[in-house]
Amino acid sequence: MKIAIMGAMPEEIAPILKKLGNYTTTEYAKNKYYEASYKGVDLVIAYSKIGKVFSTLTATTMIEHFSATQLLFSGVAGAISPSLKVGDLIVATKLSQHDLDITAFGHPFGFVPEGAVFVEADKSMIELSKEVALDMGKIVQEGIIATGDQFVANEERKNWIGSTFGADALEMEGASVAVVCDALNVPFFILRAISDAADMDASFSFDAFLETSAVESAEFVMKMVDKILDKNAK
Ligand code: ADE
Repeated sequence: MKIAIMGAMPEEIAPILKKLGNYTTTEYAKNKYYEASYKGVDLVIAYSKIGKVFSTLTATTMIEHFSATQLLFSGVAGAISPSLKVGDLIVATKLSQHDLDITAFGHPFGFVPEGAVFVEADKSMIELSKEVALDMGKIVQEGIIATGDQFVANEERKNWIGSTFGADALEMEGASVAVVCDALNVPFFILRAISDAADMDASFSFDAFLETSAVESAEFVMKMVDKILDKNAK
């Protein structure tokens, strides 16, 4: 077993590296990968840089080069659902690419032939996250996450994404990571803490809350790792 923990930005993995303290650094494909042993299990940690292309590269590298057997993503997102406020956690049940558009050929948004509009996250890790939430006394919502190469700071675009995909939150990496993990048969878990409401104030809110929300998400993801190890030991 080797667990990959991935973020998109340095701030999203910094709390994890801080907690681990001791790790080695390897440069590969113009990125840094951090490896550590945690409670007897091997971890590989990296931030990809923002967007679907970089996150695809990093997820693939973690699996194909670093031999990760499962992948957990930690980071921040913009809220679509009004029930999600800054700092709240959302676990993705399924993910879609909101900017994938060949509707001109009669296909639905988010679809290309031989692909699927949604990729579902690993159900057993979602179940584990409920136990973690209980242990931590936290409320964690489950929902659909929409991903695109766009920082959404526009009520109209946000509402379109919400109504087209039934999405509760949006970000810029989850669905591409999901496509990679699904194709390579690696169970994955995508967690996000809300940093903004994807509206006209989004960039200010993002800057103000990136760090604190990233910490919320990272702490939860490390508890997920603990829970996975607990279950594995039994
Ligand atoms: N990640 C966090 N907030 C976001 C937003 N408003 N748009 C895209 N990705 C985000």
